[in-house]
Amino acid sequence: MDSEFSNILNKSELTKENLIKLIEANEGESEMLFEKAKEVRDLNTGKKVHLRGLIEFSNICSKNCYYCGIRCGNKNVKRYEATEDEIAEAARYAHDSGLGSVALQSGERSDKDFVKKVDRIIRRIKQQSNGELGITLSAGEQSEDIYRMWFESGAHRYLLRIEVSDPGLYKKLHPGDKRHDFNRRMESLLLLRKTGYQTGSGVLAGLPFQTTSHLAADLLFLKKADVDMVGMGPYIEHPETPLYSYKNTLLTREERLHLVLKMVAALRLLMNNINIAATTAMQTLDPRGVEKALKAGANIVMPNITPAKYKENYFLYEGKSGTSQNRDEAKRKAVERILAAGYEPGYGEWGDSRKFLNREQK
Ligand code: 5AD
Ligand code: SF4
Repeated sequence: MDSEFSNILNKSELTKENLIKLIEANEGESEMLFEKAKEVRDLNTGKKVHLRGLIEFSNICSKNCYYCGIRCGNKNVKRYEATEDEIAEAARYAHDSGLGSVALQSGERSDKDFVKKVDRIIRRIKQQSNGELGITLSAGEQSEDIYRMWFESGAHRYLLRIEVSDPGLYKKLHPGDKRHDFNRRMESLLLLRKTGYQTGSGVLAGLPFQTTSHLAADLLFLKKADVDMVGMGPYIEHPETPLYSYKNTLLTREERLHLVLKMVAALRLLMNNINIAATTAMQTLDPRGVEKALKAGANIVMPNITPAKYKENYFLYEGKSGTSQNRDEAKRKAVERILAAGYEPGYGEWGDSRKFLNREQK
């Protein structure tokens, strides 16, 4: 049995069938998988782990995804929008403390006020850091013009998770209106790439109705989409969402973390030089979640430096890790986890994915 599993680990092309086996690996097998993924990661992305200061600058969202705590239909959320000064100050902190880049994240909105504000913020951050601070945006689906405007103003990376790559499953997890159209999301990913961004995507693992075959297809989707970076996370239930009623059908929290770690490792075998984040949701399920992800093939950590007064309102799912931490603590913990996993923090560097850099050189 073991030798069949290790044969899969050494294959140069992973089929869907092989990927399912990796995703279904038991404890013993997954140790082999993690070790292999770590080896591939070290060889292709080096010994550093890069940091992104995560700024969740607004929890106002026009969408209503069935899994998400800040969906517009949740009237119990205290909505906020950080001011431009607050966001600029958080970015200054990131720059001064050597985080190298920031990830600006918010709910999805396309109204003029929002679009212009984001644009001003990007310019301001670029200006105040003499162009030194990297900027990743994550503000959902937008038109080509908006993507281009933000790119020209200085955002160079964009993260848009596909969430699930199977259109049928996508339908089950989102309302059936135009705002939540799978094809539009796919097109947005293509637009980002076309605009010139380093493009990231990702999926949720451990959702109701989701099978290991769906998950294997997700990995092949990310490969086919040729993304430069990936942020994946375990699904974690939120009581004020429609999906909460399926909570008894879920894997345990421990099993869900194990599942997502196997997804990270399998993805690393499939895409050896992309950036893969060790995410907050992993940390939420396990006090060593980030460290474990780094040891299973991830190479990016995102300490949350959102202004303290807003932090607890970006409540995507139950028990979200780090909401009571201040930014110094968040940064310190991130560094501790990197060191615990045997890596070095890449202070002051953008940490672009090698895959993107190789593409640029061609
Ligand atoms: N559990 C885990 N992740 C979630 N997200 C939204 N809701 C949940 C949840 N219940 C993730 C989505 C989205 C990101 C902002 O948060 O993947 O892209
Ligand atoms: Fe809005 Fe994103 Fe949550 Fe969907 S997952 S409701 S788009 S914040």
